[in-house]
Amino acid sequence: MPEPCDRKTTAGDDLKIVFTADEIAHRIRQLGREITNHFPADDDLLVIGVLKGTFIFVADLVREIDREVGVDFLVAASYGSGTTTSGKVRMRYDPDTPVAGRHVLLVEDIVDTGTTVNRLVPILRQRQPKSLELCTLLRKPGSGGVVQEPRWVGFEAPDAFLIGYGLDHDERYRNLPYIASL
Ligand code: IMP
Ligand code: MG
Repeated sequence: MPEPCDRKTTAGDDLKIVFTADEIAHRIRQLGREITNHFPADDDLLVIGVLKGTFIFVADLVREIDREVGVDFLVAASYGSGTTTSGKVRMRYDPDTPVAGRHVLLVEDIVDTGTTVNRLVPILRQRQPKSLELCTLLRKPGSGGVVQEPRWVGFEAPDAFLIGYGLDHDERYRNLPYIASL
């Protein structure tokens, strides 16, 4: 399939494609295999996606995990709607799925400053999962200082604002099948 080339949005913004739909699909197959092999087959595994950015990623990822797996989501919101993270994160939806004694895989769309991960990881650790691992679709450069490094990173991202494949800018572009920079 020919990949879309760089384009303008209907709003006139310039899009530059960074990861194509094929590249994403290929990488997620690898991640799915690695995740399947990592967790003991007899143990309970719960995938928790951070909404809304991971809604497509989690849907694709869990279909590449070849074992029984629970799926839930939480909603973390950072204040503000610009292209930078504001630094304050609050839990807007906290699932009541039991976590204690289960392997938990927290799935993020982007680890940028690490603020979101640094807020969510201690909350989940308090609930005493059997293990807690992180998987992020994208990691921005200079995302040091996180309380826990992701065990799985889809792609190292360029230092640009990215949209598509679940990622938004002011709630637009989540439906693009590829990842692009604005
Ligand atoms: P952090 O808390 O600074 O690590 O940022 C994580 C969150 O900020 C992500 O879950 C995204 O929702 C958002 N974010 C950071 N960079 C981008 C981007 O380039 N595009 C879209 N959202 C982003
Ligand atoms: Mg966002």
